[in-house]
Amino acid sequence: MKEQIDSIQAEALAAIAAAADERSLDDARVAVLGKKGTLTLAAAGIKDVPKEDKAAVGQLLNAARTVITGALEEKQLAVREAADRAALAGIDITLPGRAVNTGSLHPLTILRDQAIGILRRMGFALAEGPEIEDEFHCFDALNTPADHPARNEKDTFYFDSGKLLRTHTSSVQVRTMESQKPPVRIIAPGSAYRRDEIDATHLSVFNQLEGLYVAEDVSLPDLKGTLEYFFRELFGTETEVRFRPHFFPFTEPSFEIDVKLHAKGQAPRWIEVAGCGMVDPAVFEAISKSRKDDAFDPAKVTGFAFGMGLDRLAMIRWGIKDIRLLIENDARFLKQFA
Ligand code: PHE
Repeated sequence: MKEQIDSIQAEALAAIAAAADERSLDDARVAVLGKKGTLTLAAAGIKDVPKEDKAAVGQLLNAARTVITGALEEKQLAVREAADRAALAGIDITLPGRAVNTGSLHPLTILRDQAIGILRRMGFALAEGPEIEDEFHCFDALNTPADHPARNEKDTFYFDSGKLLRTHTSSVQVRTMESQKPPVRIIAPGSAYRRDEIDATHLSVFNQLEGLYVAEDVSLPDLKGTLEYFFRELFGTETEVRFRPHFFPFTEPSFEIDVKLHAKGQAPRWIEVAGCGMVDPAVFEAISKSRKDDAFDPAKVTGFAFGMGLDRLAMIRWGIKDIRLLIENDARFLKQFA
């Protein structure tokens, strides 16, 4: 039996030594240790060995298994290392990796998402409307008479059909009041169009965010509190906010909102960020006429409205000097917001 075990071991070690890759090494392992392997079969033969020799033969078998297993493991490492080395041949693994370009959000998207997030927490729901509007929803319902300069062909893009590119998203407020009863608490972010001369602070399209709250007993303090809170959330809790009397056809009283800007290396200055006011009863009357009911009877409901340009807010927030950077899609500019 001893010779038999010796020769099984010698044969196995020779096969292992000769194996050049993982596959032939595995064949060598199966040939000796597999179910029908030479050592496995020899171990099965122990039942025929005389009782007094069983212990000695068992030891021999175990010793052979240990030697063979050790040789297999050692060779396995060597084979793997050789395979790795071959795979890397000709590749300089000390070269720095190739950077993967990841995209990032556009500054306007970042700002719009933050603004919407703040207003939604205060209970404002998102509302939408068409960008190609009619004069009623853009102007007439908003107490903006036919001779108002905003309606001039020099200021607004008209189509031959008489329709126009909305000059503000206030038209969405009108549409919402036509289709919903009070209380109405909505925000309408979206594009607005004006025939402005294009320069560092004007484009012919800009991104607006307007809001409207109509219910019983909505007051001027509600308007002030809501917008002060909004701008402090957006620009920092220390931000100073002031309301300056102004005129809009669709609100009375009306205000422009300024925040105090503390730019690095500059004296602090007030800068205009939004328009707002209490909805003019004339607007509710136009809505009532269009709805043919008294849900928005100005004797019963009051409301406030506000509107701001997101492009402008982004420029203030990040100190962007030229509005055109926001539409040029120059990666060198956009990367700074990643
Ligand atoms: N619609 C105004 C604009 O586009 C902004 C505004 C909205 C002002 C609501 C007051 C109230 O300039």
